[in-house]
Amino acid sequence: MIKLHFFLLHIVTAFALIFPPFCNGKVMMEYIGATGKPVTFDAVPIEPNITFHFILSFAIDADPSGNPQNGTFSPYWVPTLTPDSIAAIKSTHPNVKALASLSGWSLQNKVLRWYTPSNPQLWISNAFASLKSIITTYHLDGIDVDYENFPKHTESFAYCIGELITLLKNQSVVTVATIAPFYSTSAPYVDLFNQYGNAIDYVNHQFYTDKVKTPQAYLEAFRNRTEMYGKDKVLPSYEVDGRGIQGDAFFVALDLLEENGFDVNGVMIFSADASASGGYCYERKSQAFLLNSTSSA
Ligand SMILES: *[C@@H]1O[C@H](CO)[C@@H](O)[C@H](O)[C@H]1NC(C)=O
Ligand SMILES: *[C@@H]1O[C@H](CO)[C@@H](O)[C@H](O)[C@H]1NC(C)=O
Ligand SMILES: *[C@@H]1O[C@H](CO)[C@@H](O)[C@H](O)[C@H]1NC(C)=O
Ligand SMILES: *[C@@H]1O[C@H](CO)[C@@H](O)[C@H](O)[C@H]1NC(C)=O
Ligand SMILES: *[C@@H]1O[C@H](CO)[C@@H](O)[C@H](O)[C@H]1NC(C)=O
Repeated sequence: MIKLHFFLLHIVTAFALIFPPFCNGKVMMEYIGATGKPVTFDAVPIEPNITFHFILSFAIDADPSGNPQNGTFSPYWVPTLTPDSIAAIKSTHPNVKALASLSGWSLQNKVLRWYTPSNPQLWISNAFASLKSIITTYHLDGIDVDYENFPKHTESFAYCIGELITLLKNQSVVTVATIAPFYSTSAPYVDLFNQYGNAIDYVNHQFYTDKVKTPQAYLEAFRNRTEMYGKDKVLPSYEVDGRGIQGDAFFVALDLLEENGFDVNGVMIFSADASASGGYCYERKSQAFLLNSTSSA
């Protein structure tokens, strides 16, 4: 009887893992904390049936002056995003996950770039240890990879980042890993994706850098990027008060994607910092679109 009870419990647990009750397979990705504005999680609208990822921007392999640290990352997102505030938003919204995004464009005025580590194994083990510590302290669930500048030879990027993600997942430090290429950084990210795609959950391609302003051009850009990364993991993205498609044309573009056979499984928005003054209307509309859309992930 006891054995049967445990057996049933395992089945129920396995079922709940495969079909989380709060999630219809749709995801939101929201960058937060990059601009220095004192943003918080509380004001951001979060629908219960969407897995909502806050992407803290950024964790950086650099000291405060921007000097590389051989893979030792430190958090540089705005200090209002505290460990306690992450624990709190996750406890009031069990569908929330939090990620640390790696690198970003710059620290203060210093442009950040991938560099070939003199000792790749040391870089990977430093990155693993420092990120594990940040992830534990801040109650995070994953990492996003947002290196934006590369040297001529980038082979070390796919290897070091791919091994890092693999190790973080293998040791159950993270459950989610995403990458954030933009129009001119596809090559190193495609390389990474081709070698380590099984460990990468979503591609937050920055479509706003593709300079597409109409739904039709957005569809073409989306199709192009799915040819690089496959159809299942690429998310459409929107920059609030930014480049590329703006306003309701974005939602026309999402309709057009679905009419052309793409399942819109999620939306990435850059960023909560910019949305605060506009009442988060793109976050609201994106989630309404995802809940209304009939396609399933
Ligand atoms: C969330 O999904 C569940 C199960 O499909 C459904 O019963 C519930 O009404 C949904 N809630 C919202 C707010 O959409
Ligand atoms: C990085 O590693 C190299 C080689 O081991 C060492 O010379 C250098 O001092 C290290 N840099 C930092 C910031 O730790
Ligand atoms: C971690 O890697 C080991 C060795 O390859 C493997 O046996 C194990 O199943 C992996 N664990 C997870 C959680 O991926
Ligand atoms: C899509 O790819 C084609 C072929 O490489 C290219 O000519 C076109 O400019 C791309 N369109 C967009 C919007 O990226
Ligand atoms: C919901 O979907 C229906 C059918 O596709 C569409 O007519 C309607 O405009 C959608 N509503 C929203 C809020 O997207």
